[in-house]
Amino acid sequence: MISYTQLFASVCALASTAAALTPLEVSGKDFVDSKTQDRFQIIGVDYQPGGAAGFTKKLDPLSDADVCLRDAALMQRLGINTIRVYNLEPSLNHDECASIFNAAGIYMILDVSNPLAGGYLDRSAPWTTYSAIYYKQVFGVIEGFKNYDNVLGFFAGNEVINEDAHYLVPKYVRAIVRDMKDYIAKNSKRAIPVGYSAADIREILMDTAHYFECDLKNSTSSRSDFFGLNSYSWCGESSYKKSGFDVLTEDFTNATVPVFFSEYGCNEVQPRVFTEVQALYGEEMTQAFSGGLVYEWTQEDNDYGLVKVNNSNTVTTLVDYDNFEKQVNKLDMERITSSNVTQTSVKPEACSASLIKDKSFYNAWDLPEVPSKVADYIKNGLPDAPSGKFVSVSSTTIPQKVYDHTGKEITDVKFEVKSGVNTPSSSGSGSSGTSDSSSSETSTNAGSPNGAPSLALGGAGGLFMLLASLL
Ligand SMILES: *[C@@H]1O[C@H](CO)[C@@H](O)[C@H](O)[C@H]1NC(C)=O
Ligand SMILES: *[C@@H]1O[C@H](CO)[C@@H](O)[C@H](O)[C@H]1NC(C)=O
Ligand SMILES: *[C@@H]1O[C@H](CO)[C@@H](O)[C@H](O)[C@H]1NC(C)=O
Ligand SMILES: *[C@@H]1O[C@H](CO)[C@@H](O)[C@H](O)[C@H]1NC(C)=O
Repeated sequence: MISYTQLFASVCALASTAAALTPLEVSGKDFVDSKTQDRFQIIGVDYQPGGAAGFTKKLDPLSDADVCLRDAALMQRLGINTIRVYNLEPSLNHDECASIFNAAGIYMILDVSNPLAGGYLDRSAPWTTYSAIYYKQVFGVIEGFKNYDNVLGFFAGNEVINEDAHYLVPKYVRAIVRDMKDYIAKNSKRAIPVGYSAADIREILMDTAHYFECDLKNSTSSRSDFFGLNSYSWCGESSYKKSGFDVLTEDFTNATVPVFFSEYGCNEVQPRVFTEVQALYGEEMTQAFSGGLVYEWTQEDNDYGLVKVNNSNTVTTLVDYDNFEKQVNKLDMERITSSNVTQTSVKPEACSASLIKDKSFYNAWDLPEVPSKVADYIKNGLPDAPSGKFVSVSSTTIPQKVYDHTGKEITDVKFEVKSGVNTPSSSGSGSSGTSDSSSSETSTNAGSPNGAPSLALGGAGGLFMLLASLL
């Protein structure tokens, strides 16, 4: 047991380490640190333990502190600086997880929709769900997360525009961006960026990007602040040309907002070797892209994991985890974080039908009017919506046991409170140094990957403590 005196001492020691990350902001086509103006490129991973099916009204990826601490510690070793979380429940308390990732030096990009009824825009008939019911979810997520400095941004939609979408969907998504930004301007201390995450459908990809990033004189707030692209075109030992990354670079070289891969990491060739990391953060591509997020953290049925959660007490780092770490450790962080005035001084183009090339893509910007109840939420704030706040984080070892893919226990996994952004450490913090050609994991989803029952805080072996800020 930890005595009260010890607790009190740690709370005092913590006071100086609590504020880990400075908020990021958008400057031209770059994300930059709002204090130093250093460029920020996303070295990220998509985070949905349990998969989409693991999400419920009672448990989302940022509501179980033991799981967040374990994952943040394992992400620190990899050099991860950003997670994307897809499905969130606004009524849950996210203080501990948000504080853990903040203390770990990791930003969060959050989707505001979820797959439950009323939680998303229906792409086949968007006008039916563009309503106050949906906005309880959308504004609820903003309320819940607006006070956390490590929120990089919100996604107003994920792959809403695809082959099955009604052709009016673009203007509804642009209206959601508008309403979110108006809500943030009125109800948040900080101008948190809002963007869209697109499917890699090449025929309409640039139309989608232009539709959201152009400047609309009579609705400036409807302009997206950034653009995410889910791209899986680099498989195995591909190349810049073979994968079509060269075409993407060319296409987005004139972008006027930060563009990044909101998902990447084709798994057709296994294990994944992640050679695309060198291209993505290389000299050419970083003129168009601000990094990306690997899909995805935990091993689920679709076989994209970096780690496998065996049960609530053990986790295994997979071959892909080691391979990704090796690639990230080769990056030249000084170049990646250096700012460039050519990048930050770009100006948006005006919206015009001539920007849209594909005949099937909507080419007007007559956005739907804000429903009156939604306008009311924007003006006065969403009623009865909980807002989070940071709590102090202190910890040493994590409560779970960690094994590498050969079955050997990794004993030195530590959660470290950082004073800034988490970065890759080429010093190789104890990875087992296996070769790229190890056998591929097969993914039978034994056990319950997500529903790790919560261990009592401060209990369970490790000296993990997470203390509400009583000071
Ligand atoms: C980017 O802008 C330059 C200069 O205006 C232009 O020559 C080029 O064609 C543009 N590239 C694309 C892909 O639109
Ligand atoms: C700055 O960015 C521009 C375009 O994005 C690029 O052409 C140029 O090489 C960059 N300059 C440096 C010093 O990296
Ligand atoms: C956890 O799962 C991995 C991958 O399926 C397996 O190789 C490993 O032996 C398991 N570890 C434990 C402790 O059950
Ligand atoms: C705003 O401008 C667009 C594009 O010119 C136009 O289609 C739309 O009707 C205008 N909206 C309002 C409310 O005037």
